[in-house]
Amino acid sequence: MKEEGYDYSVVQGFAFSALFWLFVGLAVGLWLAAEMVYPGLNLAPWLAFGRLRVVHTNGLAFGFGLGGIFACTYYMLQRLTRIRLAFPRLAKFHMYFFNAAIALAALSLFAGMNTSHEYAELEWPLDIGVVVMWVIFAINVFGTLIKRKEKQMYISLWYIISMTVTIAVLYIVNNLEIPVNWFKSYTVYAGANDANVEWWYGHNAVGFVFTVPILAMFYYFLPKSTNLPIYSHRLSIVAFWSLIFGYVWTGAHHLMLTPLPEWIQTVAIAFSIFLIAPSWGSVINGYYTMRGEWDKMRSNYLVKFFIMGITFYGLQTIQGPTQGLRIMTGFFHYTDWVIGHVHMGTMGWVTMIISASLYYMIPAVNGREIYSVKLANTHFWLILVGQLIFTITMWIAGIQQGAMWKASNPDGSLTYSFLETVTAMYPYWKIRFAGGFVYFLGIVVFGYNLLMTLKSPEEATQPRTA
Ligand code: HEM
Ligand code: HEM
Repeated sequence: MKEEGYDYSVVQGFAFSALFWLFVGLAVGLWLAAEMVYPGLNLAPWLAFGRLRVVHTNGLAFGFGLGGIFACTYYMLQRLTRIRLAFPRLAKFHMYFFNAAIALAALSLFAGMNTSHEYAELEWPLDIGVVVMWVIFAINVFGTLIKRKEKQMYISLWYIISMTVTIAVLYIVNNLEIPVNWFKSYTVYAGANDANVEWWYGHNAVGFVFTVPILAMFYYFLPKSTNLPIYSHRLSIVAFWSLIFGYVWTGAHHLMLTPLPEWIQTVAIAFSIFLIAPSWGSVINGYYTMRGEWDKMRSNYLVKFFIMGITFYGLQTIQGPTQGLRIMTGFFHYTDWVIGHVHMGTMGWVTMIISASLYYMIPAVNGREIYSVKLANTHFWLILVGQLIFTITMWIAGIQQGAMWKASNPDGSLTYSFLETVTAMYPYWKIRFAGGFVYFLGIVVFGYNLLMTLKSPEEATQPRTA
């Protein structure tokens, strides 16, 4: 049955925008993966690896990631406050503005405009656009919260608030720059300070885009999809505050063994280990929610996505603190091991949770059933298998790469030339392409299933509980 009385056009608009950017970002990712094996594919300057890599990361983190986050936030916000959005027309404007900004961002990156700060590559006119867009979003978030009818603040709302505030602070501080013309600017920070601010931003971008809002979705849509209350609201609140407290100190774990002061590195290591506790607080909360109901893994396709997603989050948050230790980073930094870490998080945790959330929302806001549960299951298995092939291959490649770089002869000279360590990676990179392709097929199935849902017969047989 259609859920009446809320503004859902913007939810749907953002959901399909996210899907579109997911396709673009993945197509570019596949091309990149192929370029690493067949360098001849660097056919033109705008197809060069350096340019495409940033289109891939920005397209997926911001086009797909943020698009999905905005869709789910506008949905959860209305349901959890029990009122319509405070400014529905502003939300619609936000949607068009967002898509225009991502398209311009992609074009500028293809054209080679780049600040050279990872995940903050956009030049200053686009930065101003991003800030305006974020203010528009924040006005709706806080406007709706102020007017809310439901007094109790469910945990997902806390995660949404922290994302909204923290991303604004991070983005503005890290992008303070001096323009020299319309297309070029220089950061106001210098040397080690620049690196420190950049990775304080970079790591928290991962935290407040790829973790915090995804946890908001997990806490909202898992209970909704199963009709089971979350195991412990108190645990979720304790985990929330300790996650927020811990996250912002850890950026320097990206800068281990660099000229950055030693004590800053040590603080980052300590807080990275501390983060295991709140991260696993959410993992355990999810698992305990399913107590006695594990058969739903078989009978409810959404549960599969949520539980495998939170499992990858659990693995990711053990791997992360471990690879931040000096001894580990000395071996793994710059190797494909880190690429494995990145893609377990993004292709496992982030994509699984956003997929399931969209599978829940799109039928709900249209008053229809999902087009095909069978296709949803196919999608699940393809992205799971594709991701596992990708990440496990990258971990093995990373171990070999690190070992080859460090291997030395009795006279102290290096055993392998750099080129030998590159060519040794070719078999792994070919398998990575294959894994990525399987995952991509899963996403094609996902897109088809969601689009066909718009055409399936109206009126679900089972009204959804509010
Ligand atoms: C407790 C949580 C986590 C910790 C302590 C952690 C730690 C780390 C460390 C130490 C690195 C740097 C490795 C190196 O360059 O040598 C890294 C890289 C990265 N992590 Fe995590 N991680 C955590 C969770 C996550 C999650 C949930 C994601 C979600 C996708 C994620 C995404 C990334 C990305 C994208 C990078 C690559 C950054 C870059 O160099 O471009 N991490 N992480
Ligand atoms: C078909 C699936 C995918 C393929 C084939 C793919 C391929 C690649 C390749 C080849 C790289 C560059 C690796 C290098 O420089 O050595 C990369 C980096 C990256 N990808 Fe993907 N990717 C895929 C899915 C995703 C998804 C779904 C996301 C995010 C939602 C994502 C986010 C990233 C990020 C953040 C990096 C930068 C990692 C770093 O700097 O450490 N990728 N990807």
